[in-house]
Amino acid sequence: MLEHIGEWKRSVYCGGVTPDMLERELTLMGWVQRRRDHGGLIFIDLRDREGVVQIVFNPEIDADAHRKAHILRSEYVVAVKGTVNKRPAGTENPKLKTGDIEVTANELKILNNAEVTPFLIEDESDVHENIRLRYRYLDLRRPNLQRNIILRHKVCVSTRDYLTKGGFIEIETPMLTKSTPEGARDYLVPSRVNPGRFYALPQSPQLFKQTLMVAGFDRYFQIARCFRDEDLRADRQPEFTQIDLEMAFVEMDGVMSVTEDLVAHIFKETMGVELDRPFKRLTYDEAVGRFGVDNPDTRFGMELKDLTPLMTDTKFKVFADAVEGGGVIKGLNAKGCGEFTRKDLDDLTGVARSLGAKGLAWVKLSSEGWQSPIAKFLSDSEKEKIAGLLEAKPGDLLLFVADDQSISNPVLGRIRLALAERLALIPDGAYDISWITDFPLLEFDEEEGRCVALHHPFTSPDDGSVGKLADSPLEARSKAYDLVLNGSEIGGGSIRIHRRDVQMEMFRILGIGTEEARSKFGFLLDALEYGTPPHGGIALGLDRLVAIMSGSQSIRDVIAFPKTQKATCLMTEAPSSVRKEQLQELSLRTMLNKNAP
Ligand code: AMO
Ligand code: AMP
Repeated sequence: MLEHIGEWKRSVYCGGVTPDMLERELTLMGWVQRRRDHGGLIFIDLRDREGVVQIVFNPEIDADAHRKAHILRSEYVVAVKGTVNKRPAGTENPKLKTGDIEVTANELKILNNAEVTPFLIEDESDVHENIRLRYRYLDLRRPNLQRNIILRHKVCVSTRDYLTKGGFIEIETPMLTKSTPEGARDYLVPSRVNPGRFYALPQSPQLFKQTLMVAGFDRYFQIARCFRDEDLRADRQPEFTQIDLEMAFVEMDGVMSVTEDLVAHIFKETMGVELDRPFKRLTYDEAVGRFGVDNPDTRFGMELKDLTPLMTDTKFKVFADAVEGGGVIKGLNAKGCGEFTRKDLDDLTGVARSLGAKGLAWVKLSSEGWQSPIAKFLSDSEKEKIAGLLEAKPGDLLLFVADDQSISNPVLGRIRLALAERLALIPDGAYDISWITDFPLLEFDEEEGRCVALHHPFTSPDDGSVGKLADSPLEARSKAYDLVLNGSEIGGGSIRIHRRDVQMEMFRILGIGTEEARSKFGFLLDALEYGTPPHGGIALGLDRLVAIMSGSQSIRDVIAFPKTQKATCLMTEAPSSVRKEQLQELSLRTMLNKNAP
C-alpha cells in the first residue's frame, strides 16, 4: 500500500486482516471504534473503510504502547504495529469478519485526537437525520453508508465499463446552460458579465445529447448531474445523477435492449444478482388499470379491478354518479382483512380522502354475508357480480373508489401499497423490474388549461398517432418507455422527434408559439434542419437505482452530501446569504431586503 506516516507503512486495511496472516507483523491505521479495559489488558476496535479489527495492548508485550493506549477515546486516529494472533478460545466474535483473530500491539502512534462525537459511529445509531447531515463526515464513517457509497462507485464503474465496450462515448455537457423543459422549476445562475441574464442549471442533458446525435457521435453516454427545483421527497433530490445515454439510428427496441443489458450487467457485476430476463413489459393502460399507477410495484398481487361495467344500472348514487360523469369504479380485494376494525377503515378512508377521493367504500365479508355501509344500496345480483369479479371469500375486505379515473386509480393504487406494507406482502430481497410502454403523448393540465407532454416535448408520437395530433392530440401515444424497479421509476426515455415540422407541430399543440420556440429551442430547431438522424435514448436515475440495490429507504443514504427536504445542506449551510457587493456585481437586489442596493 502507498500509505505511510514517516517510516510506518500501512500494510493492510483493518477489515482486510485475515486468519491466514497469523504471526505476521502488520501496520494498521484507522479510527478507534471503542476502547475496553480488562484486567490489565486494553482492547480497541480499530476501524477503517474495510472493517474493524481488535487490537490488544498487553503491558507485558509493550509497556509503552499499553500506557499510551490508556488515553485513547472513540474516533482517535492511530497507527498500530502488532502481530496477528488467534483469539483465545471462547472470545471469538462471529459477528465480525475478523472475529477469530486479534492484533497484539507492540507500538502505538496517536495521529490525532477527537472530540466526543454527537452520535456513535455505528449502523444502529439512533439519531435524528438532521444531526447526521450536519456532521455528515461522521455519518459517512458508519459502515452502512460506506458500503452504499462504495456500491455507488461500483455501479458507476460497471456502467462506464459496459457502455464503453458497447461503443458509447462519454461526453460532458455544460452546467451553465439554458432552460430545458423536464417539467420542474429551473435553478438559475445570474451572469455577472451579462447583467440581468441568467443561466439555468440543466434539468437533464436532454437537448445536448440530441444535438450530439446531430453531430454524428452516434452513441453517447454520461453520468450526468441534473438540477430540478421541485418538491422534495424520499426519492427526489434537487440535484441528482442520471446515467444518461442516447443513440442514433435506433428504434425503441434498440434503446430498451441496451438498457436491459446494462442494468442486468450492473446487478451481476456489483451484487452478483441475476435479474430475470427479458424484463416484463406492461403498457401504460395495463399498469394504471391493474395497479393504479404508472410505476407499479409488481412484487405482490392485490390488483385493482374495474367494476364500472357491472354498475351501469346501479341505484347506489355514489357509483351511479361516477358512471354518469364518465368516471370509473375501481375495487380491490384485501384478502383476509375482514377483521379490520372501524379505526383501520377510518384510517384507510383518511388516506383516500387526503389523496383527493370523496370517500372509500368498504365491504367486510363474513359467513353471514356483507357487512358494509353500502350493502343496502346494492342489489343481490350486483353484490354477486362484485364478489365474483374480486374473487371474494368470507374473511375478505373489499375496497372501492368511484371517481374520475385520475382519482380512482392512483388512490386505490396507494391504498394497495399501504395495505402491502401493513400486511408485509412485499418479499425481502426481490428485484422486480418492468418496462412501461405505450404512454399517452400528452396530458391535459387543468391548472394551465393546456396540453403538456407526459415525458418531454421532444418525444416522438408513435407511428399510428402522427395523424391524430391535429384533431385528437390527447389520444396520441408516444414512443416513450419507463423502467420501474420495485415500484420506483428508475428510468425514462423515448425515441425523439427528428423532423423539424413534427417538432414545430408538437410545440404548437403544447401552446408554445413560434416566437417562444425560437427563443427557447432555436438551436435545436436549427439543428433539426441539418441532417438529424432518427435517434432516441434514456436516463436512469442513479440515486434511485443504488438506493434500491442497497436496500436504503431514501436516496439521501446513497448520496455523499445530500440536501434536506427543504433543499438545504446542513453541513455547509447552503444556501446562504451573500455580501451586498456580490449582489451588486451581479446587478441583483433581493425583495427580502428592500434597502439593499
Ligand atoms: P426523467 O425526467 O424521466 O427523464 O428522468 C430520468 C430519471 O431520473 C430520475 N429522477 C430523479 N432522481 C432523483 N431526484 C429527482 N428529482 C429526479 N428526477 C428524476 C428518475 C427518472 O426516471 N431527459 C430525460 C431522459 C430521456 O428522455 O432520455 C429525463 O431526464 O429515476
Ligand atoms: P355516503 O352515502 O356519502 O355516506 O357514502 C356511503 C359510503 O360510500 C361511505 O362509506 C363513503 O365513504 C363511501 N363513498 C363516498 N364517496 C365515495 C366515492 N367517490 N368512492 C367510493 N366510496 C365513496
